[in-house]
Amino acid sequence: MGVVSGRRRQGKSYLLRSLAEVTAGFFFEAVQATEAESLRMVGAELAAYAGAPAPYAFTNWDDALASLFALGDGRAAVIIIDEFPYLADASPSLPSLLRRALDRRGPSMGSGNQARILVCGSAMSVMGRLLGGNAPLRGRAGLEIVLKPFGYTEAARFWDLADPRLAATVHSIVGGTPAYRRQFVRDDAPADMADFDDWVQRAVLNPDRPLMREARYLLAEETDIRDPALYHSVLAAIANGNGRWGAIAGYIGRKSSDIAHPLNVLEDCGLIGKEEDAFRSGRAVYRITEPLITFYEAVMRPHWGDLEQGLGGQVWADSRQRFSSAVIGPHFEAVCRDFVTSRGRDLFGRPVGRVAAGTVGDPSGREQIQVDVAVLGPAEAGQPREVISLGEAKWGETLGVRHLARLDRARSILTDKGFDTSHTVLACYSGVGFDDELRAIARGSDVMLADLDMLYGQ
Ligand SMILES: Nc1ncnc2c1ncn2[C@@H]1O[C@H](COP(=O)(O)OP(=O)(O)O)[C@@H](O)[C@H]1O
Ligand SMILES: [Mg+2]
Repeated sequence: MGVVSGRRRQGKSYLLRSLAEVTAGFFFEAVQATEAESLRMVGAELAAYAGAPAPYAFTNWDDALASLFALGDGRAAVIIIDEFPYLADASPSLPSLLRRALDRRGPSMGSGNQARILVCGSAMSVMGRLLGGNAPLRGRAGLEIVLKPFGYTEAARFWDLADPRLAATVHSIVGGTPAYRRQFVRDDAPADMADFDDWVQRAVLNPDRPLMREARYLLAEETDIRDPALYHSVLAAIANGNGRWGAIAGYIGRKSSDIAHPLNVLEDCGLIGKEEDAFRSGRAVYRITEPLITFYEAVMRPHWGDLEQGLGGQVWADSRQRFSSAVIGPHFEAVCRDFVTSRGRDLFGRPVGRVAAGTVGDPSGREQIQVDVAVLGPAEAGQPREVISLGEAKWGETLGVRHLARLDRARSILTDKGFDTSHTVLACYSGVGFDDELRAIARGSDVMLADLDMLYGQ
């Protein structure tokens, strides 16, 4: 048995259908239905697959599983059940029945059955529950794939955007979700930077395109979310730069304890992630992991009525400031951290333990320096933690010596605090570039300057 999970629209069904096609396997995609109706659908599709003249009439899952597994008697057979959580919702005993079916036919039973069964689902919380703790299927999966969105460089290739500036800008809205390149925009990608504003209006802020309502559906489709208003407020708080627990609670006007549950659910769905500060333990920020949600909360939700009226052009014209401060600015910082996470070892010539944003406060408490891209070595007991790099990331600003000076100040504070800064590389990441003075300094030292071409490996 193998398990494939991942958020909606990431291409699970697309890949599994392709797999079924090339292996001549059996593919069944469940829908929300009662047990009896689901059994009828499986019976019909299995009969069609086997070339039987009439649908099989299964009265329970034991019979259906027996027929499914029979496909693997004496021959390798790929059997794929997509949206498995819908079936398990209607038939809570299904996971246990499946386990029994697997155990009876396992290699150690000498049954000669060669069924390879893949179960797949988007309800992340349900998929987690199937395998974890004392769940019935625990320990039965020989393969576990979590399908993630494309990374920012893969997304650029998938969107066929050779210009890194355009690729980064588009990625800050639609991220790396493959479906948002296809049906959701009817394959409409911006031709070049000059076409970008128009593309936003025709593909994203357009009530006739499904992408406009997608962020709402994403939340509405999560079965664990019963109070979408609260969840949207939590996401809006984060999108507006209130990422810490207390700040989120303050923004939405609830007690801190009230937001524990929504934060957990959103984290389980893979829509937000929690990131510990690089330098201060116990100080975490939440970040939205799906760019479209940030864009929705920052740009679309405040003007929803206008957007429904087809006034996307006006909304976009009025939202430029918010787009740069709430969407693409923070997004660029995250992209820089992704860049270092995947390339850190080549860049700095040493193993990277952790990449995160960090807060460096001087001992007097007067000064707080935010480090956008802090790179730490692997933690080793009894050794001072190595600071591999300290970086400043700015999407829309030419970086200069004063930015470098701040990083240098952070480095000396960290040295005083007992971190190992003997090899710390100061790094400047910019979406526009660096002034001449900074360039001159970087030439003669190990200061790293990273522009968009470098981030996109060009
Ligand atoms: N690897 C891929 N290559 C090209 N298109 C893809 C890929 N993955 C997904 N897509 C597009 O995204 C759409 C949604 O994918 P889907 O398989 O329905 O997602 P999921 O099952 O994870 O919800 C597909 O119909 C397809 O157009
Ligand atoms: Mg699917």
